[in-house]
Amino acid sequence: MSTPTLSPEQDELFRLIEDTREHVFITGRAGTGKSTLLQHLAWNTDKQIAVCAPTGVAALNVDGQTIHSLFRLPIGLIADSEIDQSDATRKILNAIDTLVIDEISMVNADLMDGIDRSLRQARRRRSEPFGGVQVVMFGDPYQLAPVPPRGDERKYLQDHYRSFWFFDAHIWAGPPDGAIGMGGLLDLGRVGAPLHIRELRDIHRQSDPEFKAMLNAVRHGIVTTDIAERLNATGARTPPPPVDGEPPIITLATRNDIVNRINQRHLDALPGPVQTARAEISGDFGRGDASYPADAELQLKVGAQVMFLRNDSGYGGDGPRWVNGSIGTVVRIAGETVRVELDGEEHDVEPTVWERFRYAYDPASRKLSRDIVAEFTQFPLRLAWAVTIHKSQGKTYDRAIVDLGSGAFAPGQTYVALSRLTSLDGLYLSRPLRPADILVDPDVRRFMAGVRAAGRG
Ligand SMILES: Nc1ncnc2c1ncn2[C@@H]1O[C@H](COP(=O)(O)OP(=O)(O)O)[C@@H](O)[C@H]1O
Ligand SMILES: [Mg+2]
Repeated sequence: MSTPTLSPEQDELFRLIEDTREHVFITGRAGTGKSTLLQHLAWNTDKQIAVCAPTGVAALNVDGQTIHSLFRLPIGLIADSEIDQSDATRKILNAIDTLVIDEISMVNADLMDGIDRSLRQARRRRSEPFGGVQVVMFGDPYQLAPVPPRGDERKYLQDHYRSFWFFDAHIWAGPPDGAIGMGGLLDLGRVGAPLHIRELRDIHRQSDPEFKAMLNAVRHGIVTTDIAERLNATGARTPPPPVDGEPPIITLATRNDIVNRINQRHLDALPGPVQTARAEISGDFGRGDASYPADAELQLKVGAQVMFLRNDSGYGGDGPRWVNGSIGTVVRIAGETVRVELDGEEHDVEPTVWERFRYAYDPASRKLSRDIVAEFTQFPLRLAWAVTIHKSQGKTYDRAIVDLGSGAFAPGQTYVALSRLTSLDGLYLSRPLRPADILVDPDVRRFMAGVRAAGRG
């Protein structure tokens, strides 16, 4: 795999990572080549590096693995629970000089601190931040945040951290750079690691200066009437009908229910019978369908475009056949297997089991306990003509339909969706943008203002 020749600003940061042991956060607008620099680093570094990302899709984008699979961390809050490490995991973590994380904006403070603790534990260097590993993070906090936790997990984070963002993790020291928060509100005495922040400025994904300026306005929540009118005049239009042999235009939508409706429409349009796989569910999944890890009733047809929901666990020496986020086409459905074509190869997919844990939080002792409360067995597949904007972060599309439905609800959501496009020509808005679609997170404003005040922005 090859990456484009680095620009001078990318090359300067490559040298910084390569020639020092500093922890660096490399930020910059969407399309400034953060992931590209990361991949260049992966191919050209002399250090032992491990590349990872918070979601399967983001990991796929940079040929890395998910943070949870690299560290073998449990899903959900880590807090101060015991971290189980096999010999194999310990060996891997001991071999790393530099840990590289893409899409760091989707890492929450708890996971950031969990990474620190895992590395200290595995490397038996408990007094050194990250057990002596250099940590290099890439991402844009103006894009999507971690999925907000709910219930007791949420209360736990609120009690322990200034915000859910990675930059408010306890591991980071107070302000030599002037930019870092106070660490945790309740842990002010703790000495953390210094974090260096660098920003890439030149955008490579888009070339049209007008579109770049529009995206920047959306990013910062300063869309003028002029910009809105221009975006809507161009983007709010009906997409062209599908052409045989060309991939369908993907739809990026805010909510799962919209994504499901669009997928259903495409499924209905395919010839052939629908086959339904019913999940086996035991125990308590709480809030019903919305909390299921996959469809309770998965409808498939031969020809359906599908996305994998989990990393491949049953593979031999050739490495995983798919990862969470891989997109393929169903070619056969027979009993307990669904055959899926992925990049020209066919794989038989079987149902997998998800375990649901629940935390109980005691505010008096400020401790969490964790139990398995339910199991869910289903094919790790879902229809994928449409995906959530959340799943699209990090991707580049020449054409996409952006469906904001009843409105963007998360800071950065509209920015992520629009900035996936390489040009305004490829944008199809299913309805005009409204001012309420543009949301900026106050903690991000606070953090990035600190970065700028320290002369780094
Ligand atoms: N130095 C470069 N020269 C040419 N194209 C580049 C360069 N850096 C990045 N790109 C291209 O710009 C697009 C966005 O890059 P990417 O690394 O995904 O940005 P980011 O991760 O910052 O959103 C990609 O298509 C990538 O190939
Ligand atoms: Mg990226």
